[in-house]
Amino acid sequence: MGNGRKVAVIGAGFYGSTTAQRLAEYDIFETVVLTDIIEGRPEGLALDINQSRPIEGFETRVVGVTTGPEGQGYEAIAGSEVVIITAGLPRKPGMSRMDLLETNARIIRQVSENVARHAPDAVVIVVSNPLDEMTALAQRVTGFPRQRVMGQAGMLDTARFTHFVAETLAVPVSTVRTLTLGSHGDTMVPVPSRCTVNGRPLTDLLPKDKIDELVERTRNGGAEVVALLKTGSAYFAPSAAAARMARAVAEDSGAVMPVCAWVDGEHGISGVYLGVEAEIGAGGVRRVIETPLTDE
Ligand SMILES: NC(=O)c1ccc[n+]([C@@H]2O[C@H](COP(=O)([O-])OP(=O)(O)OC[C@H]3O[C@@H](n4cnc5c(N)ncnc54)[C@H](O)[C@@H]3O)[C@@H](O)[C@H]2O)c1
Repeated sequence: MGNGRKVAVIGAGFYGSTTAQRLAEYDIFETVVLTDIIEGRPEGLALDINQSRPIEGFETRVVGVTTGPEGQGYEAIAGSEVVIITAGLPRKPGMSRMDLLETNARIIRQVSENVARHAPDAVVIVVSNPLDEMTALAQRVTGFPRQRVMGQAGMLDTARFTHFVAETLAVPVSTVRTLTLGSHGDTMVPVPSRCTVNGRPLTDLLPKDKIDELVERTRNGGAEVVALLKTGSAYFAPSAAAARMARAVAEDSGAVMPVCAWVDGEHGISGVYLGVEAEIGAGGVRRVIETPLTDE
């Protein structure tokens, strides 16, 4: 029957619950554990997702667990191959991701201590903001090897860029390749020189001012959704990105993805977590790819 494979999602808010749903629908894990500190929330969401199994046709079971301030309940994540950390506050309109630093650092610290205790062999994917800082903190607190801790941002930022290019040119998204590197925030680096449509350089298809406009919209992609929602941040595209990263780990696929990874000399930068392209496998980041870049 089951294959014994387990993945855990910490935080059952919008990001966490949609991530759990996507992971369950892949139908490659026996169990998706979903936790939160709000009593009943993860259990209720798990029950709801499980009741969609006969309709969507997947066997994976979601197990919802409320965790306590002393780490009660965390034993449920034991044996997880991947732990995705989504716990933490999202932005409100007008806030920058850095405004979340203090509150979310407290949360990530508590979560990371428990992940280290109960799932010491897991690959950790952090999504809580500010992303680069929370990823670095999770690595420090868990004490896990740096390649086993990464953050999700680049997959999402790149998907946003791709979506905007496809819409502008009225072409299928499947024909568009884009790339964003750097930090998840105002210093994000969308890379037009690495973008193509049906193999043709984007720079041949759109004038510079139009590309600049799409770059700017990509950089503000999260804030645009926050301003419209007014009570939270994006989660459909973000959860798709985190779930795909977890899947690449689970399948040891070697997929090259833009992720927040530890850099050690790549692109001339050392000693920080940063958005780069990396090959993802069972142990997390197999290697950082030094994507050729123009001076600009
Ligand atoms: N990296 C990205 O690309 C990206 C994109 C979107 C959102 N985010 C970030 O993801 C995070 C979650 O967003 P969301 O929309 O799900 O927010 P949300 O408010 O819907 O959910 C957050 C959940 O975390 C829970 N939580 C708080 N402290 C906890 C703890 N100690 N242990 C377990 N759970 C705890 C809360 O109870 C809540 O249910 C935010 O920090 C947001 O900024 C990142």
